[in-house]
Amino acid sequence: RTVPASAALVEKGNYRHFMEKEIHDQPDSCRNTLSAYLDPIAGKAHAPGGFDFTAIDRIQIVACGTASYAGQIGRYLFERLAGLPVDVEIASEFRYRDPAVAKGTLAVAVSQSGETADTLAALRWCKDKGLTTAAIVNAHQSTMAREADVMWPTHAGPEIGVASTKAFTAQVSVLTALAVAAAAQRGRIDAAQEAALVAHLLEAPRLLAESLHVEDAIHAIAPEIAKARDVLYLGRGPMYPLALEGALKLKEISYIHAEGYAAGELKHGPIALVDEQTPVIVIAPTDDFFEKTVSNMSEVIARGGRVILITDAQGAAHAPEGARVITAPTCDPVIAPLVMAASIQLLAYHVAVIKGADVDQPRNLAKSVTVE
Ligand code: G6P
Repeated sequence: RTVPASAALVEKGNYRHFMEKEIHDQPDSCRNTLSAYLDPIAGKAHAPGGFDFTAIDRIQIVACGTASYAGQIGRYLFERLAGLPVDVEIASEFRYRDPAVAKGTLAVAVSQSGETADTLAALRWCKDKGLTTAAIVNAHQSTMAREADVMWPTHAGPEIGVASTKAFTAQVSVLTALAVAAAAQRGRIDAAQEAALVAHLLEAPRLLAESLHVEDAIHAIAPEIAKARDVLYLGRGPMYPLALEGALKLKEISYIHAEGYAAGELKHGPIALVDEQTPVIVIAPTDDFFEKTVSNMSEVIARGGRVILITDAQGAAHAPEGARVITAPTCDPVIAPLVMAASIQLLAYHVAVIKGADVDQPRNLAKSVTVE
């Protein structure tokens, strides 16, 4: 499979790779995407074209790869803010297991390309069952965009690098804005709370830009990661799917074995892997889970593990002794997945460059998997 024709129309500018450019595009792609969902003057969030979140009882998200991790982050936000139960499932499993989906479920496909075969089949299955369907897609003319009842666009622009970066943060931006809209419609937050959340979301593009300043620090640790055979990524809450995404990015482009785990699962298996050779990347901004994750880090350090903590300034001040720290900007927890994403993307990118890998066209991978 080759790079889509649109690649010829997109310039790399001063960047060595499309992936590097796309990581740096994110403040703009996030801003462009959010502008379709937020009214900064009224302090309100909405679905373009309108959507009645009081008419549904639950949400079923289906997606593959990176898009499924965006969906998992969306689950935390919809459940916490809007009190809407959300299931997230890999489309290739969902489509073949005869899922028992309740009436009143909104099915949401998340896909950069809008063409991924398994996600499309899952969307069609839901439509056949009479469910309302929505597609969060970056390719606005794609099959999923046409077939879903509702199309919620991301405005990331063309993404050429096979490993998704700016489409991911655009998907998370949409899901966050929609969770706020759903929370307001369902009476879970009042106008002042909605305005406060919208204000936090409006800060995301600027903080994402600031978060790219971690690049020097990431560059400095990348040679050490490039020597590792295995890398563990840990996170809790919305940082758990981000840990999964961090591990996926590293695997995809540097071919280093990496695993993402919920930090609380550490002692149920992965701690057996920890030794001096295994870098453990912990994503833990200051939030309700921080203290718990600190104790997980201490367990790793006590066993000789090398912890690299990606956090904010307050988290840096409370890091356990022995952890090396990458300090991202301080932000409200609702936008933390967006602000923390750049660090894991840059880490995968710089490790892959050191390893001399073909960053934009990793072996065996396709940008859009339109066959099973
Ligand atoms: C492929 C790509 C991934 C992407 C996944 C889902 O595996 O290499 O980067 O996350 O497909 O693609 P989609 O277009 O549905 O988001």
